[in-house]
Amino acid sequence: MCGIIGYLGSSDSKKVLLEGLTHLEYRGYDSAGIAIREKDRVDVFRVEGRIKSLEEKLASKQFSGTVGIGHTRWATHGAPSELNAHPHRVGAITLVHNGIIENYSEHKDTLVGMGRKISSETDSEIAAHLFDLEAQAGRKLEEAIPRVMSQLRGSYAFVIMSDFEPDILAGVRNGAPLLIGVGEKEHFLASDIQAVLHRTNQIIFLQDGQFALCKRDKVTIKTAEGDRVQPDISSIDWTSEQMDKLGYPHYMLKEIFEQSQAAANTIDGNIDHRDGIVSIRELGSLLTLLPKLKRLCIVACGTARHAGIVGKYYVERLAQMPVEVDFGSEFRYRDPILDQETLLILISQSGETADTLAALREGKRKGVPTLSICNVRGSTLSRESDVVLHTNAGPEIGVASTKAFTTQLVVLYMLAIQLGKLRGTLKKDKAVEFTRELLHLPLLIERVLGTEPEIEAIARKYYSRPFFFYMGRGIYYPIALEGALKLKEISYIHAEGYPSGELKHGPIALVDTDTVTVSIAPRASNGVVDTLFEKQISNLLEVKARKGSIVSIGTEGDLRLREYSDQLISIPRTSWGLSPILATMPVQLLAYHIAVLRQTDVDKPRNLAKSVTVE
Ligand code: M6R
Repeated sequence: MCGIIGYLGSSDSKKVLLEGLTHLEYRGYDSAGIAIREKDRVDVFRVEGRIKSLEEKLASKQFSGTVGIGHTRWATHGAPSELNAHPHRVGAITLVHNGIIENYSEHKDTLVGMGRKISSETDSEIAAHLFDLEAQAGRKLEEAIPRVMSQLRGSYAFVIMSDFEPDILAGVRNGAPLLIGVGEKEHFLASDIQAVLHRTNQIIFLQDGQFALCKRDKVTIKTAEGDRVQPDISSIDWTSEQMDKLGYPHYMLKEIFEQSQAAANTIDGNIDHRDGIVSIRELGSLLTLLPKLKRLCIVACGTARHAGIVGKYYVERLAQMPVEVDFGSEFRYRDPILDQETLLILISQSGETADTLAALREGKRKGVPTLSICNVRGSTLSRESDVVLHTNAGPEIGVASTKAFTTQLVVLYMLAIQLGKLRGTLKKDKAVEFTRELLHLPLLIERVLGTEPEIEAIARKYYSRPFFFYMGRGIYYPIALEGALKLKEISYIHAEGYPSGELKHGPIALVDTDTVTVSIAPRASNGVVDTLFEKQISNLLEVKARKGSIVSIGTEGDLRLREYSDQLISIPRTSWGLSPILATMPVQLLAYHIAVLRQTDVDKPRNLAKSVTVE
């Protein structure tokens, strides 16, 4: 979950590294550092805290070096401190690391036994010692890297400089992301595209078990077994402007407001205009398998898992197929029952979440077909899955996931419609009707975003409250979970999401005059939700009777809901399938404005990182 970068070229490496680290900061931000090779020495600068502190430390320093590495850290082994910050310099080796080396303590004991001095509490420094042992024994990086790889257990991406090979920058990948940016007589190594995109869009994605030796004009890629790999360069179509805040105070707000366009981009190209029904173009080889499936198993983490639960409602209703949803961190440890009639679906914005990847690999080990719903092209998840459906949300930088979630819902809804049609559980006229409504989604999203001023006013009323309940029934239950997650992760207010009927089984004991209950209860142009609506009103009354405050998210003009709520945020009346998507923007905006009022760091909340690449 750290961000790493390396540069070898002819530009000012301090500038390149700091620029790259700024784009990687969402991956971790408790300490940072860079190392620059200056002729025959390497200068290392590290700070506890954010890239800004590193920039301040380096402000008056000029470098002539054009080779260097950098790191922004999310602490795993060892507290966030300058001593534990990267780069680690040991003998002739300077390196940065992302990942966890599981057997580091065994190596540490051996190294101490050899008389080596260990200065930090990190597993990364131990790896630096192992590379240095190789260097001191006269082995070049090309020979040393596979030897060290064979001694390490766990996940890692390294960028390494050796004093004995000053014109080489090495990158090693095993279980943590690493890519190579190819420029004009220059190479970049980085954890993700964002860090290099303003310099080049020519990218080589290293695979697990591979390492790269970059020179200015050439890159050599090999496997740990010593086989040469032909570099495969992809052109990435994300622009560096997409990475900027474009005048918004936070990435999160910008990304919330991008949801209309993101939904449009995700729908685009997936409608068969001959019959007016969804037809997902990326399904490819899975198309023939879909009608034969008996079950779906969806695995994801955090917000992506909440999308998976909405997907369960979609698929069970429209395609009448059982769907199971599990946490990435639990799935593989329960020896899941998987067979050839089960499709394993993995959902992830980044495509690099360690637990989601482990679930994918568990599925592959058991020989089931795999499909991923992923936002980052070229990510590990998208490369290792049999089929990938891309959410075209564009880069999501804010740690709190917003547009990735709503585009995941769009893909899941499209998948459910197509599955229903293929399996004959969804009549053609209904499939046409749902598809037609889907095409209106971007406009409906814009209308909901237009309620931002009202939501901000509600945030002002309640931002100092200590506890929020989010409750919803049926397909709104996962939106309640998502609303609670958004609030707690960026405002640090304790929040819980519940199916409304569960409150009386215990949680309602927490309701008092300080509690705010956010009730998600839009009506839809469909009978099922309306039956649940009456039950939701009863649950509201239960809260009201305990003097809790109620903020409702409901349908425009719903007088009944207004009567029982202290505040009402309205969304347009729409179909059952689109309603949870529209109900999402109010919970995102409410969390955002509460966090801003509480003066938290919205885009980089404490203790979190955007991409959780460790278990
Ligand atoms: O990149 P992924 O979608 O796999 O990430 C999964 C979760 O870590 C992520 O959704 C997390 O819960 C977000 N911070 C929520 O806003």
